Formats: sequence, structure tokens, C-alpha cells
Amino acid sequence: MSRVTAQYPPLSAEHIDLSDTEFWGWPLADRQAAFATLRSLDHPPFYAEPEFLFDPGPGYYALVRHADVVEASRNPEVFCSGKGATSIPDLPVEFNEYFGSMINMDDPRHARLRRIVSRAFTPRMIQRVADDVARIAAEIVDDLLAKGPCDFVENVAARLPLTIICQLMGIPDDTYSMVLRDTNIILSGFDPDLISEDMNEAVGQILAAGGELAELVTALGNERAGKPGDDLVSALVNANIDGEQLTTAELASFFILLVVAGNETTRNALSHSLVLLTDFPEQRQLLLADIDGPIGGAVEEIVRYASPVMFMRRTVTRDHHMNGHDYHEGDKAVLFYWSANQDETVFTDPAQFDITRSPNPHVGFGAAGPHFCLGAHLARRTACCPASSTASST
Ligand code: HEM
Repeated sequence: MSRVTAQYPPLSAEHIDLSDTEFWGWPLADRQAAFATLRSLDHPPFYAEPEFLFDPGPGYYALVRHADVVEASRNPEVFCSGKGATSIPDLPVEFNEYFGSMINMDDPRHARLRRIVSRAFTPRMIQRVADDVARIAAEIVDDLLAKGPCDFVENVAARLPLTIICQLMGIPDDTYSMVLRDTNIILSGFDPDLISEDMNEAVGQILAAGGELAELVTALGNERAGKPGDDLVSALVNANIDGEQLTTAELASFFILLVVAGNETTRNALSHSLVLLTDFPEQRQLLLADIDGPIGGAVEEIVRYASPVMFMRRTVTRDHHMNGHDYHEGDKAVLFYWSANQDETVFTDPAQFDITRSPNPHVGFGAAGPHFCLGAHLARRTACCPASSTASST
């Protein structure tokens, strides 16, 4: 039975391999067609794992439908993150926790960490940053006007989130470029532009990048313990929730997660926004005609369409039936947010970028559940402000 609504050319499921790096280089329309085909299958497709350092694991189910991503996200007792959410191949648990902190944990450890850091990540802290966002965005636009044509990713999309995250954390200006380099290495996905092609060397580079970030935050934490400033590192080292405090190792890992999660995602969202507002000029007109009105909807639609986080993984903890399919203990399930956000049973004309789309129940920040993006408010702020300042400056 086909659920495809004929807006994409048909493509057969045997020709689609989500584990093949080449698939991700296909033109967007072809990938949209491919995922539409996968969503039309009666059962979630199953793939062998991509080649990696260790022996290949058992393979994974690709959860490509919105309903499956939503259901798995809200059922962490069955679809757990503790065996690794950020990588499809299994990695040593210490590696997952060092680089992924709470995103790779389950309750009660996840809940404990999230409780402590949520108290530091307050609306007041975000508001203070929001004021900075407007100022930094205006500076970036001024520099663009002075510089003339230049690389958008480097000069805008990378610079804005990096500056905001570093200011939020109270990281000294002269370490920004190190933070950017280290986060790029950690999230390189073994891209030879960013990291050695030799696997063992590459792992060494990733560990060294993590070590450098850990050293930076440990030094800042030591400085600010008992002598807090109004930055997030101070709030984290001095947070004491009913006697609970972050350990030095927890602080380091959480810091790595924040700078990594906060930089790359928003950079991608901003880069996609330029492409989308260029490819859909009538939407750009609509936005520029009344910037403050549709900007909130535009940000949600950018996150839906771009889905800067393509996937997260879960592991099944016990035999379980979900949406017509039987899963077994130990199965891996990969939540393809990008595909869920194109699901034609939820979004009318999903390939259309529509800043007035309402409702827009996208899962770009994850679906409701314990791991829903902690930085969603901050990301929304960061993506809103450049548009407003660009509009007012041109
Ligand atoms: C457009 C920008 C962003 C997108 C698309 C995004 C997406 C996501 C997604 C999909 C998850 C869910 C992971 C899961 O369910 O396994 C997540 C979790 C998380 N995000 Fe974001 N994110 C963005 C920006 C940020 C920013 C700016 C920060 C912080 C400064 C941040 C911090 C986090 C953290 C700490 C988690 C883990 C939460 C937990 O495990 O409890 N994110 N994000």
C-alpha cells in the first residue's frame, strides 16, 4: 500500500541505502523522493551499519515516519539512549558519555544531570543572551556591509552561534577559534576536510579536541567556583540542587555537549535559511514585508525543512510492538528527524517551504520526551535575530 501522494517521482526501496555515504550526496529532490518511498513501506526499512573502526553491529531499523519518531521519543524505557544516541555503531560507553554527556544517558542519571543544568540554563540567562544576540547580529551585518561579497557560512552562520555560545559560557575571546576548531573536529563525522583520513589518527584528534575543551572549562570552573560571574560556567559550578552538584568530569562533558550541540546545529540552520530564502523568493518577500510578524513561523519552518540534526539513535530494551511492527530487545532504531519532518501524512505539501505553515508539529528539536533539545529557546533566538537586523539594515 502506497502512502506517497505522487508529488515525488517513484523510486524503489532496493536502490536506497541510508548507510552509504554517497546517498547523502544525492540532490535534495532525490533524497526527498527516497525518503517518501521509505515512508510508504509497510515496515521500517532495515540497514546494515556503516563501516567503522570496530566489527559491524547488528544493523538498524530506520524510523522514517513522524508517528514512529514521536512514539519512540516519548517511550525512553523501551527506546533508550544510554547505549548511544549520537552514533549508529556502538562506541565504548566512556566515549559516549565524555562527548555526549546526558544525550547518551538514561534516567536516573539523565534526569539528575538535566535537573542540575536546567536550573543554570534559566529563562533569565537566555534573556541576557537574547540581548547579546541582537547586538552581535548587528555587528555581523555591519561587517558584511563593509566587507562586501564573502563566504556566508564563515562570516555569518558560523560566527553568530559561536560568539553567542562563548559569551553565554563566559569563554575568553582569544579562545573562540580553538573552540570552533575543536567542535568541528568532534562533529566531523570523519570528513577528510576536517580530520585525518587515517581512522586511528582521527580518533586521536577527536580525543585531543575533547581534552582541550575539557581543560578550558575545568580552568574556568576552578576560577569561578565561589567567585561566580553572570555566565553559564559560573552557574554550573556553583549550582547546588538539594546537595547535588556537577562533578568536574560531568561539567567537562556537559560543556563539550553544549558547545558542540550549540555551534553546529544553529550554523546549519542559518546556512539553510539563506538557501531557502533564495530558493523560495516569494517566502523571502513575505518575510521582508513584515519581519516581526512571520519571523517566529519562519524559524520553525527553517528548522523543519533543514532538520540540522538528521538523526539520533535509540536501542530497544525489551520486545515491543509499535505502530504495526515488532521490535526485539537489542534492536537499534534510528530516528530520522529529517524524514519525519517531510511526512506527507502530517505536513501538507512538505517539499514547499512555507513560513506561514500552521500548525507545524516538526520534530527538528527532537519530539516530546526527556531528551527534547535543551537549547531550543536559545536556538530560536539565534535564528530570529539576524533576520530582523538584516532587514532593518538594508
Ligand atoms: C537549530 C538548532 C538546534 C537543533 C536543530 C537541535 C536539535 C536537537 C535534537 C534533535 C535533540 C534531541 C536529541 C534526542 O532526542 O536524542 C537535541 C538535544 C539537545 N540539544 Fe539541541 N538543537 C539545536 C540547538 C541547540 C543549542 C543552541 C543548544 C545549547 C546551547 C543545544 C543543546 C542541546 C542539549 C544539551 C541536548 C540534550 C538534551 C538531553 O539529552 O536531555 N541544542 N537538540
